[in-house]
Amino acid sequence: MTTPTAARPIPAHVPPEMVGEFSLFTAPGMAPTPNGDPQAAAACVHAGPRIFYSPLNTRDGHGTWVITRAKDQRRVLQDGETFSSHRSIFASALGEDWPMIPLELDPPEHGAFRSLLNPLLSPKRVMVLEPAVRERAAFLIDRIARAGTSCDVMNDFAFPFAVNIFLRFLGLPDDQLEEFVGWATDLLHGEPAKRGAAARTIVAFIDDLAAERRREPVDDFMSFIIQAKVKDRPLTDVEVRGIGVLLFIAGLDTVAAAIGFDLAYLARNIADQRLLRNEPSRIVLAAEELLRAYPTVQMIRVATRDIDFEGAPIRKGDYVSCATMIANRDPEEFECPEKIDLSREDNRHQAFAYGPHRCLGSHLARREIVIGLEEWLKRIPDFRIKEGTAPIAYGGHVFGIEDLILDWS
Ligand code: HEM
Repeated sequence: MTTPTAARPIPAHVPPEMVGEFSLFTAPGMAPTPNGDPQAAAACVHAGPRIFYSPLNTRDGHGTWVITRAKDQRRVLQDGETFSSHRSIFASALGEDWPMIPLELDPPEHGAFRSLLNPLLSPKRVMVLEPAVRERAAFLIDRIARAGTSCDVMNDFAFPFAVNIFLRFLGLPDDQLEEFVGWATDLLHGEPAKRGAAARTIVAFIDDLAAERRREPVDDFMSFIIQAKVKDRPLTDVEVRGIGVLLFIAGLDTVAAAIGFDLAYLARNIADQRLLRNEPSRIVLAAEELLRAYPTVQMIRVATRDIDFEGAPIRKGDYVSCATMIANRDPEEFECPEKIDLSREDNRHQAFAYGPHRCLGSHLARREIVIGLEEWLKRIPDFRIKEGTAPIAYGGHVFGIEDLILDWS
C-alpha cells in the first residue's frame, strides 16, 4: 500500500453537492489497519448516491467519479469507446509511454490482442497447468507444516505460490523464484525508489527474454508471443514488452491477496473452516463467495467525451472508478451483501471485472485459489490468527493483507 500524492483541484464542472468524502485511499479503514476490513468499509458508499465525485481516489492524486451500483459499473465497463482504459500506468512511472497489453488498449485494437492471448489462459490450458499448481501448493505447505505450528501466510505461502505459478506459466525454471519474489515485492510494496528500480529490472528482464527467444525459440509463452501475428504482422518489441509486463503484474498480488483474505476469513470462522475441511467439494462455491466478499481491484476509466451519466456531468478526461469491492456489496445485486455465505448460489460477482477487459487469467486464478485452499485445509489442522498478532489489511488500487500470522499449535 502506498500513500497517494496530494489531491488535484476539483474540476469546475463538478457540482459541489456531488463531491463525496469517500475514497479507497483515504476513507476510514483504507490505510493499513490492524484487523481492518477495507472491503466492508468500502460498502458504506451504498448508503449514499449512485454516483459521486471523490477528490483523491488514485495513487497519483486524481479525483474520480465513483460508480457505486454494479449495474452502472457494467455500463461503464462495457463501453470502451466512451470510457477508455488507455492510461500507461506502468510506463508513465518510468517516464515512458507504452500500454500494458491488452489492459490499456481500447476496442477495436484491444480485441486483436485479446484474441491472440485468450487461448493461452483458456480453461483447457489451465487444466494442463493444474498438476504443477497442485504440486507447488503441496510443496510450500508441506514445508510450512514441517517447520512448526505457525507461519506468515503471505511470505511463506501466498506470494511465493503466485510467483511460482507465473514462472511455470512463462516456462521459466524455479531457480529464479527468490529473485522474482524480490522484484515483485519491491514493485508492488516497496518505497518509490525501490518500485522504480524493480520496474526497470522487470522491463529489462522481459526485453532480454524476448530477445533470447527471438534468437532461439523454444516451446514456451514468450516464443509463442514473438512468433505470433496481430492483423497479419508480427508484434513489435514494445508490444511484446507490454504483454510481458502486464502478465507479471496482473497475476501476482491479486492471487496472493485473495488467498490471504480467504485464509484470514477461515482463521476467524472456525465453523466454516471445519465445514470446508470435512467437505472439500464445497470449496469451489466457497471460493466464489470469498471472491465476492473480498475482491481486490479498483478499475479506472478515462472519459473520451462529455456524457451525462446517472445525473453526473462527466466531462472528457474525467476519471471514472469502478471498484469491484463496491459492486460486490451492492444490495440491489446481492441479498444481504454483508453476510458471507459460503453456500451462496447464483453468485454473479464482479471480482474479475466485466466487459471486454474481463480478467484474462480468471480461470487460472480460480484454480490457484481453490487448489491452494484444498491443499492448505488437507495439511493444516484448525488454525487461528496467532495470539498477540493482528493482520494488517489495506485499501488502494489493489487491496491487500500483510502480517497474517496463523497458528495451529
Ligand atoms: C484473484 C486473482 C485476480 C483478480 C481478482 C483479477 C482481477 C482482474 C480485473 C478486475 C481485471 C480488469 C482490469 C481492468 O479492466 O481495468 C483483470 C484483467 C486482467 N487480468 Fe486479472 N485478476 C486476477 C488474476 C489474474 C491472473 C492469475 C492473470 C494471469 C495469469 C491475470 C491476467 C489479467 C489480464 C491479462 C488482464 C487484462 C485483460 C484485458 O485487458 O483484456 N489476472 N484482472
